[in-house]
Amino acid sequence: MKSVNGIDDSKGKLGVLIVGLDGAVATTFLAGTFAIRKGIAKPIGSMTQMGTIRIGKRAENNFPLIKDFVPLAELSQLEFGGWDIRNENAYEAAAYAKVVDTPDLEKVKQELQAIHPMPGVFEQRFVVRLHGDYVKKANTKYDLMEQLRDDIRRFKVEKKVDRLVMIWCGSTEIFLSVEDVHLSIESFEAGMKNNDEHISPSMLYAWAAISEGVPYINGAPNLTNDIPAIVELAEKNGVPISGKDFKTGQTLIKTVIAPMLKARMLGLSGWFSSNILGNRDGEVLDDPESFKTKEESKLSVLDSILQPELYPDLYHDYYHKVRINYYPPRGDNKEGWDNIDIFGWMNYPMQLKIDFLCRDSILAAPIVLDLVLLTDLAQRAHRSGIQEWLSFYFKSPIHSPESVPEHDLFIQSVKLKNTLRQMMGEAMITFVDQDGNRIPLEDAEGSNGAWREL
Ligand SMILES: NC(=O)c1ccc[n+]([C@@H]2O[C@H](COP(=O)([O-])OP(=O)(O)OC[C@H]3O[C@@H](n4cnc5c(N)ncnc54)[C@H](O)[C@@H]3O)[C@@H](O)[C@H]2O)c1
Repeated sequence: MKSVNGIDDSKGKLGVLIVGLDGAVATTFLAGTFAIRKGIAKPIGSMTQMGTIRIGKRAENNFPLIKDFVPLAELSQLEFGGWDIRNENAYEAAAYAKVVDTPDLEKVKQELQAIHPMPGVFEQRFVVRLHGDYVKKANTKYDLMEQLRDDIRRFKVEKKVDRLVMIWCGSTEIFLSVEDVHLSIESFEAGMKNNDEHISPSMLYAWAAISEGVPYINGAPNLTNDIPAIVELAEKNGVPISGKDFKTGQTLIKTVIAPMLKARMLGLSGWFSSNILGNRDGEVLDDPESFKTKEESKLSVLDSILQPELYPDLYHDYYHKVRINYYPPRGDNKEGWDNIDIFGWMNYPMQLKIDFLCRDSILAAPIVLDLVLLTDLAQRAHRSGIQEWLSFYFKSPIHSPESVPEHDLFIQSVKLKNTLRQMMGEAMITFVDQDGNRIPLEDAEGSNGAWREL
């Protein structure tokens, strides 16, 4: 294979395997991608398709499109497949999801109708509100995982794809903690053979993917590819992984507002986040155990950005609450409402109110596209294990035990672009510290949390 700067050529077909193929996010992603391919829609919200990247010094005025700068797969090279626990083609499922209006769906009906899910691996205990009638059967979890591997191999041959990426757009599973069975490749393999109760369906998909050399992206807050056994397998097999939980609506806003408060040394006494949504995701999250998984993901953000231990006068003991309410009339059109109580000079209180009338899957679809393309790039650039530079897209970025997650959207954006520059052998955008050392911009906020000057 021809390579640019050590990155393998993007030629050939890229298979995109979606878990939860019939869901709102997956079908919105598919409908939009087909519409873009036909030239009847623009890839709005996709950084890989619309974003630029500065190369060299500011004065050089060189801002190529990201997709022209790095060798990404073209949309025409994508071939789609995946699994669900309902047997509907992607057109029927998109019509049910009601995210994309009927006239827009009709324009890509043929393409959507051609996509059928393979039967999923499902255990109701992990998603209490769903019933799966289109599911695989086997005596052990190991055998189920092997069936998924067979599916991957068959898909590759039938669709004549050169390489693959798997992305979880399935439902949020119940809250799980890391147990002994998750700690090593050996314990996990034994656990699959013994039907260990701590092994979830999402872990079986991830295991199958990575065993087949296929990168795995986790779009839900599930405990999956952040367990040590799966990270170890990814590193051993040279496969990139990333996650978790797409950063789309309220958390996107939170990771912009919180850094602003901190940069200006404004205090926070409380942040109340409430959501109403009526899609199937909302119904699943109505179950307390699935909600807990989501809540943990949404709550972790503020402490990590505000660092209360460094700024006790500003962020000690603020009240942070996240509520998600299932409210059927809204469908996918979520309302995310934030009430933020802040304080300033001489402790005088102020309030911020943000009411985001968003569309969940419209925000998620371009993220799916970007993650698929960038993860394929990472694979061709021979990167393996956790891809922290993709934190930009996640509410709860998975990270190595030696590092801390980065939540600030703009630091994440710089980190992502610097990684692309580095991949292409271009100079990173850096600061120069007091000793004359060049520091990547994203590391310029040192571990002591103090902003260093240029
Ligand atoms: N839309 C957003 O803005 C957003 C943001 C962050 C995370 N997410 C997460 O993305 C996921 C998808 O969201 P959605 O709105 O499309 O939900 P959805 O309920 O419409 O779709 C989920 C799909 O997954 C399928 N599924 C469940 N378990 C499965 C299994 N074990 N195997 C195969 N298929 C399975 C369901 O049948 C359903 O079709 C959810 O976990 C959600 O929390 C969405």
